[in-house]
Amino acid sequence: MARLKLGVLGSGSGSNMQSIMDAIGAGTLDAEIKIVLSDVKDAYILERAAKGGVENAYLDCSPWKTKLEGEAEDRCISVLKEKGVDTVVLAGFMRIVKPKLLAAFPNRVLNIHPALLPAFPGVASWKQALDYGCKVAGVTVHFVDAGTDSGPIIVQKAVPVAEDDTPETLHARIQVEEHKAFPEALSLLAAGRLSVVGRRVVVAPAD
Ligand code: GAR
Repeated sequence: MARLKLGVLGSGSGSNMQSIMDAIGAGTLDAEIKIVLSDVKDAYILERAAKGGVENAYLDCSPWKTKLEGEAEDRCISVLKEKGVDTVVLAGFMRIVKPKLLAAFPNRVLNIHPALLPAFPGVASWKQALDYGCKVAGVTVHFVDAGTDSGPIIVQKAVPVAEDDTPETLHARIQVEEHKAFPEALSLLAAGRLSVVGRRVVVAPAD
């Protein structure tokens, strides 16, 4: 299969993007990151990308606060296309992406969500799980569809919730699994082992 050409969108620290860079560096993921874009000007994800020698830029998404739409969405698609991106990775991108971007990269937009979907879509999902009293929490990597955190599931990993967890300690435990889950999902994609059948992602056996 051809090496993945990734465009990464993120809003925060970029630890997931780092795990992808590390997997590429370690030779366990056949991909290259063509561009990293952030809707937050001083997000650490941009600094991480720069340190790793990866092209990066701020993407002004105004006037929208929670979605990527209109002129900003057009700019985003043009940049991704210009850079030769074939797969879009939402690595802590805190905006809803809209059908135009999805249509530009059909079945090639992946998101990581810090919960065992379909439980707890939306924001601060680890806190939602803790407040609900869950004994198990986790992470989901999924293809993005037109809904919110609703697309076909590629990889999930569970973690226990400890009696004395705070939102921060639980999120930290989930993030350890996130950093395995995203490279794993992308490796399956790179190996051509994923097909979407209805709601299900079918994973073909390794050669
Ligand atoms: C991660 O926990 C990711 O799952 C979450 O944001 C964090 C980003 O961390 N994403 C969402 O909540 C999306 N709804 P990072 O910037 O260190 O990768």
